[in-house]
Amino acid sequence: MINVLQITDCHLVVEDGLLIGVDTQASLEAVLRQATAGRTPDAVIASGDLAHDPLPAVYERFLATVRQYTDAPLVCTPGNHDVLAAMSALPQNDLRIGSWAIVSLDSHEDESTPANVTADDRSRVQQSLDATDAEHILLTAHHPFVAVGAPWLDRDRIQNAEELVKLLTGRSRSGANALTIGRVRAIVFGHAHQEVSGRCANLPVYGAPSTCFQFKPHSQTFAIDDYGDGRYPGFRWIELQADGAVTTQVGRAKDFLIEPLLKR
Ligand SMILES: [Fe+2]
Repeated sequence: MINVLQITDCHLVVEDGLLIGVDTQASLEAVLRQATAGRTPDAVIASGDLAHDPLPAVYERFLATVRQYTDAPLVCTPGNHDVLAAMSALPQNDLRIGSWAIVSLDSHEDESTPANVTADDRSRVQQSLDATDAEHILLTAHHPFVAVGAPWLDRDRIQNAEELVKLLTGRSRSGANALTIGRVRAIVFGHAHQEVSGRCANLPVYGAPSTCFQFKPHSQTFAIDDYGDGRYPGFRWIELQADGAVTTQVGRAKDFLIEPLLKR
C-alpha cells in the first residue's frame, strides 16, 4: 500500500505575516506535525495556493517546512494564488511509485481565480498518461471537478469537467493509448477549503481541507467556517492499493483552532 499525504491551500505569506488573522505558516506546521506523527508518507501532493504572497522566498520556505517533516517525493500543482515563475524551487514533475503514477493537471492561470485548463495543459497530461506504463493513476489538480454547493466557489471550478475527464482518460479521444483508458482511479483537488467527496465522469473525486482556514460549506458568499471540524486546519491521506483500489480520509490538526478576525 502506498500512503499519499495531500496538503493544500497553505496560503503562506511573507515572513511573520498573518492572513485574515491566521498564522498560515504555523497552521501548516501543525498539519505536518499531526499528519506525520503516526504515519510516514510515501508521497506528498501539494495541490495549489501554496503561497498567498507568491514570492520565491515564500515557496522556498514552503519546501523547507515540508522537508522538516518528510523526505517523501513531492509533487506541487499550482493554484490561482500561485505564480508559476516564482515556484521554480518546488518539484512539479509527476511521480511514479510502484504500480501507480501521480499525474498533475495545471488548472491555474497566474493572478486569475477561475480554473483555466488550456489545450497545452490537457495535452501535457495526455502525453504523461500515454507515456507511463503505470497500471493505476491518481490525478491531481487545484480546482474542483465538482460543485461543492457554494455558488461563489462553484463558479470557479473546472468547467465541463466531465468532458475533460473523459478526454484525459481516453474514453473520448481517438488515438488514445489503449492503456490510458480506464487506468485513472481517482482525482484529488484543493481550492474549496473543505472536505469534498463526489464523482465526476464516474470517477471518485476528493477535495481536501486547507492547511489554514476552511470556507463555510454551502455559503452563498465568502465566509470562514467557524463550526465543528471546519475550525481546524486539515489534510487528506490517500491509500493506493496495488490492485488499484483507493481509500482516503481527512485528518485535522486539532491542536490549532482557527480564530479568524473576520467577524470583528
Ligand atoms: Fe484556490
